[in-house]
Amino acid sequence: MYQPRDFFFQKAKKEGYPARSVYKLSELDKKYNLFQPNQFILDLGCSPGSWSLYISQKIKPRGRLIGVDLQETTIEADNFFFLQGDIFKLAQKELSALMTQVGIDQFNGVVSDMAPATSGIKGVDAGRSAELANRVIEITRDTLKKGGFLVIKILEGGEHESVWREIKRTFKQQQQIRPKAVRPNSREIYIVAHGFKRT
Ligand SMILES: C[S@@+](CC[C@H](N)C(=O)[O-])C[C@H]1O[C@@H](n2cnc3c(N)ncnc32)[C@H](O)[C@@H]1O
Repeated sequence: MYQPRDFFFQKAKKEGYPARSVYKLSELDKKYNLFQPNQFILDLGCSPGSWSLYISQKIKPRGRLIGVDLQETTIEADNFFFLQGDIFKLAQKELSALMTQVGIDQFNGVVSDMAPATSGIKGVDAGRSAELANRVIEITRDTLKKGGFLVIKILEGGEHESVWREIKRTFKQQQQIRPKAVRPNSREIYIVAHGFKRT
């Protein structure tokens, strides 16, 4: 049964995170050792801001984080910088300008927990999720450091295979994982890829 206020919801509330999704990222981080002090990270689809809050703490003292989302975020941290907008309309020069302003040349990691507004029609939602993922890969190509990592959420379905193939071409290692905090009735999976092959 769908339980909106489940264990992870309560835990997030108690620990001061605005969303339960933080436990998906913390599981991936424990498993793959993603975040280190002083890294530069791009968080696409960052609102309300649990992932950003988690990352901003892990990359201290000199790390910096840029978050992008259609919607406002509630996060306040002195190493977090926010760009409000649609990633399909985000011009590279707009992102580059903010990167320069905050002293980031390239990112060590790009993470995306983006999800499309769901229609309830499986094929349509999986298709939109794959479009988001493809755009994330484009932005990653422009901004990720050689050897860097990518974490990306995608809905399982036909087009997720083509995203997977693209990631296999672009990174040295890649895994697909379904963290424990993903709701049982969800088709979400996360791809964690390491060793970006910048050409
Ligand atoms: C599941 S939420 C992310 C939760 C976030 N990781 C956290 O821990 O708080 C997905 C986010 O993706 C954003 N999003 C969806 N499509 C987007 C787009 N085209 N451009 C920018 N953000 C988008 C939504 O506005 C939403 O805030």
